[in-house]
Amino acid sequence: MTAPTTSSLVYNPFAYEIHEDPYPTYARMREEAPAYHNPEMDFWALSRFDDVLNGYRDWETFTSTLGIALGDAESITAPSMIGMDPPDQTKLRKLIVRAFTPTRVGALEPRVRALTTRFLDTFVEEGACDLIARFAALLPSDVISTLLGAPPSDHDNLRIWTAALLTRDDGVAQLPEAAHDASKNLIGRFLELIAEKRKRPGEDLISALIVADLEGRRLSDAEILGFAMLLIAGGNETTEKLIANTVHQLARHPDQRATVIADPSRIPAAVEESLRYRSPTQYMARTTTRDIEMHGRTIPKGATVMLLIGAGNHDPRHFDAPERFDIDRVMERHLAFGFGVHFCLGARLARLEARVALEEIHQRLPDYEVDESGVSVVHATNVAGLATLPIRFTPSEPRGQAA
Ligand code: HEM
Repeated sequence: MTAPTTSSLVYNPFAYEIHEDPYPTYARMREEAPAYHNPEMDFWALSRFDDVLNGYRDWETFTSTLGIALGDAESITAPSMIGMDPPDQTKLRKLIVRAFTPTRVGALEPRVRALTTRFLDTFVEEGACDLIARFAALLPSDVISTLLGAPPSDHDNLRIWTAALLTRDDGVAQLPEAAHDASKNLIGRFLELIAEKRKRPGEDLISALIVADLEGRRLSDAEILGFAMLLIAGGNETTEKLIANTVHQLARHPDQRATVIADPSRIPAAVEESLRYRSPTQYMARTTTRDIEMHGRTIPKGATVMLLIGAGNHDPRHFDAPERFDIDRVMERHLAFGFGVHFCLGARLARLEARVALEEIHQRLPDYEVDESGVSVVHATNVAGLATLPIRFTPSEPRGQAA
């Protein structure tokens, strides 16, 4: 048997076949090329748990200031704290961190539950639906749009534009026309909302940012826009994927689903394992600020380095039998929300939404089955997961509870 060579190991994060199943490629990268280089696409990639963790931790070596995505993605977003390092990032994050404390997020639970009930009511009588189109895409979008202060009539547009912002053509890093259009629409609508809220503030995040104090001054429209774009992009698709992936994996593992249905206090463990097993954000990019020696190679200063969350979360050096979905897994930490100074601000909210969604789904449609022939995946930058999740279940009566 010949030793494996790295010559045939190609990782293109935009290849549609990678979106179907990146895990065999990740396994090869961790073993054969832990400091992987793709010269055609001009990036490096780290795939082992410890290396990915360290990449997020060591922001001085792996800066966010020169881009956190491959290709020209930065050209269609408004600059925000996610593309900064401390101390600039710290100052901006401080302005908004208060909106995501345990108390503030906990207070959203009744609203998240009422919304969940309302969405489930629209299809429980039907006995079948695409759970993403009818539920998983709608809940996070409604929650984050409302938090930002967008009226209900905007929610569908904001969700559709956000999805289009992230969608990419097969194998190609460069932005498709639809992403440019979506960006123009999102920016235009948020600038209108900011102007409206400057005149008539409400109880929402945009209004709070308008009066926030940044070292003795108010934020500009561009800075508030940066927050709005970051929160809508961060809060929508990722949480949608988390909910859908968790439902999908529990359907595939009926014994574990039975455990969770019998004891709903196990739902958070199922959500955590789903975050590890099918991480909605598969990677973020950074740029090196110095030469780094790693695994016998030199990653030069100024290189784009992808920190592969999806690969690190399947590293057998860190997780026993990582290819097994196991809600009983004892897990100190996973990488799904990143790590360090940019650790996901919405992690608590995402966990809340997923828990409530699972609690209500298990109450209302406990016997759901997935029609695997209709399952498909998204083709996006960073975000991975399901695009469609057709399910069947025993029909029941709506509860008629309004949010
Ligand atoms: C399952 C759902 C989610 C996943 C997997 C996820 C993942 C991530 C990851 C990996 C990062 C780190 C980015 C980096 O290091 O460059 C991040 C940052 C961030 N996330 Fe999330 N996210 C989720 C939900 C949310 C939600 C619901 C919100 C909004 C409320 C949100 C808002 C943010 C923000 C604002 C940042 C930037 C923080 C900073 O730059 O300091 N995320 N997220």
